[in-house]
Amino acid sequence: MRILYVIAEAAPFIKVGGLADVGYGLPRALRAMGHDVRVVLPRYRAIPGSAYDLRPLRPPLPVPLGLAGEIRVVEVEVSETTGVPTYFLWDEGYFGRDRVYGYPDDPQRFIFFCRAALALLRHLDWQPEILHGNDWHTGFLFLWLATVGRRDRFYRPIATVFTIHNMAYQGITGDALLAFGGISEHVDRLEVEPPGHINWLARGIAHADAVNTVSPRYAREILTPEFGFGLEPLLRRRADRLVGILNGLDPEAWDPRTDPALAARFDAETLERRMENKRAAQEAFGLPVREETALFAFIGRLIEQKGLPLLLEAAEALFARGIQMAVLGTGMPEYEAALAAWPDRFPGQAGVRLAHDERLARLLYGGADVFLMPSKFEPCGLGQMIAMRYGALPLVHAVGGLADTVLDIDQEAGTGFVFSPFSVEAFLTAVDRALALYADRPAWRAAQRRAMNRDFSWSASARAYEDLYRRALAWHNP
Ligand code: GLC
Repeated sequence: MRILYVIAEAAPFIKVGGLADVGYGLPRALRAMGHDVRVVLPRYRAIPGSAYDLRPLRPPLPVPLGLAGEIRVVEVEVSETTGVPTYFLWDEGYFGRDRVYGYPDDPQRFIFFCRAALALLRHLDWQPEILHGNDWHTGFLFLWLATVGRRDRFYRPIATVFTIHNMAYQGITGDALLAFGGISEHVDRLEVEPPGHINWLARGIAHADAVNTVSPRYAREILTPEFGFGLEPLLRRRADRLVGILNGLDPEAWDPRTDPALAARFDAETLERRMENKRAAQEAFGLPVREETALFAFIGRLIEQKGLPLLLEAAEALFARGIQMAVLGTGMPEYEAALAAWPDRFPGQAGVRLAHDERLARLLYGGADVFLMPSKFEPCGLGQMIAMRYGALPLVHAVGGLADTVLDIDQEAGTGFVFSPFSVEAFLTAVDRALALYADRPAWRAAQRRAMNRDFSWSASARAYEDLYRRALAWHNP
């Protein structure tokens, strides 16, 4: 199948969150199955061109904008470093900035990106059978194809798939931007849109032939007000087109047998070697080296979604249990400030690095005993899968992808600790269950081995997407 994969970030080129790992892993897995998949990305200034052998595509791409026939010329570069042809669309005004997201004109920036991606297909004279977009940044594609594109013989046959990675980010803007994107027809308001506004996440959901989330459980959760962030009426209307497909994990990128960031490499049969990583991690986080003390880790964005309020509220009681904890990440200033005070509040027990540091993260995955992921909601989550592969047992809230990937230790083949409801009390009960198992070394080792032997590779997900593409085609061309 010919598939155009549109996404706002993809590793290794540019990474803000887990979205980028999917933008790397899924296209590669589809390619390995023989599909002609190609990726399109904005060419952010932060992408170091020389590192990825970017080659200019000639001639440059004319992108029609607005309704008055304006043309903006875009430089296109191509890279093959990931094994998947990746096109980069450069516009100084929209992408020549320091950050990837977080600008007031983000909706306009990504409408521009989408419009250019559509123009690129014509420019290449490459007509995909499937256009696969991700998150609100690509919502414009679906509305455009459902309106303007419908009148065009080149675009009309293209079936579409929209993947939701997070309901919390929707991209809402005034409807004046429709004209900017070249949509002149009347567009009916969606039931979830305030008058005069467009919600780009909702547009992807409303107009795509097929919609999916990144775990089966999240696909069910978002039909409820608790997780739907206001879009649950629309999602329920489209429930027959909505499925959940679990993200994979790149087994080569995350392999404790070969990871150069580890102090000692290991596998499920040489678990005793993890101790060397634990010692190195304790040192790196300014903690006293104590082999017997349970080392907890938190790695990730310091935002509400990841359960920071719960963690901060539970801190006193958590450290009273005598554990050590290493925290690595950046995020909201209020959480950063609260965590920065931990090493003084809990001396010898808390080590905090407010940074994005992949080497340190890997060392921690390979050295920590318990990996905390008390997310309030979690569409899929990657950290818990990496932790299992590296022999750190995850302790997670029973939501979304966390519930779909971590089996509680009370089950027969358990690989972690799952708590519910979302309360400090339930969290601490899980902590106590973790510490009880930790005291039983043979049982702990057995659980580690089971965790390490779980298979989260991309091939199963890619097969599920292939199936969804087939269904999208059938829905599109009945
Ligand atoms: C978002 C979600 C996360 C998911 C990732 C990749 O970052 O919050 O749960 O793993 O997207 O799909």
